[in-house]
Amino acid sequence: PKPGILKKTIVMVGMMGAGKTAVGRALAARLDVPFLDSDHEIEAAANMTIPEIFERDGVEYFRKKESQVISRLLAEERGVLSTGGGAFLSEENREIIKENGVSVWLQADLEVTWNRVKHRNTRPLLRTDNPRKTLSELYDARVPMYAKADLHVPSDGQVTIEEMVDRALQAL
Ligand code: S3P
Repeated sequence: PKPGILKKTIVMVGMMGAGKTAVGRALAARLDVPFLDSDHEIEAAANMTIPEIFERDGVEYFRKKESQVISRLLAEERGVLSTGGGAFLSEENREIIKENGVSVWLQADLEVTWNRVKHRNTRPLLRTDNPRKTLSELYDARVPMYAKADLHVPSDGQVTIEEMVDRALQAL
């Protein structure tokens, strides 16, 4: 990896709507290190949006690309890396992240998460007849995986992005 102040990359994990991108970006700015975003890299490489990738190539293809992108970003450079909500679910990804990074779970309860995602239609996994129920099922299935992260930073409904950055810095 390129030299920098960090020995490991700080990897933001957690549900969609947890604030991984917003908090990750602000944390990178505060530390003056590069901000990396796996969803963004996947979209840029494919020149397609995530919903388009899901629609054309399917979820498994997306997961494969996601693993490749995360490995590459972790090998290339130290910074703050925001991942998609599915990135910390496979053991293989968790291993790669553990080797090169410190994982930070942005932990928000289901209600807060729902309030943040319900207005946007950019998440293919929530394009179901009952997105609220889908989110709730994903949430229950995923929380035990996110709980394996090195650090847990709670994010409630009121907290600002900068307060989340403070909490993350205290935990780090
Ligand atoms: C996903 C979350 C999305 C994106 C894709 C799949 C998931 O990222 O990677 O739609 O499985 O939870 P965000 O967590 O940034 O929304």
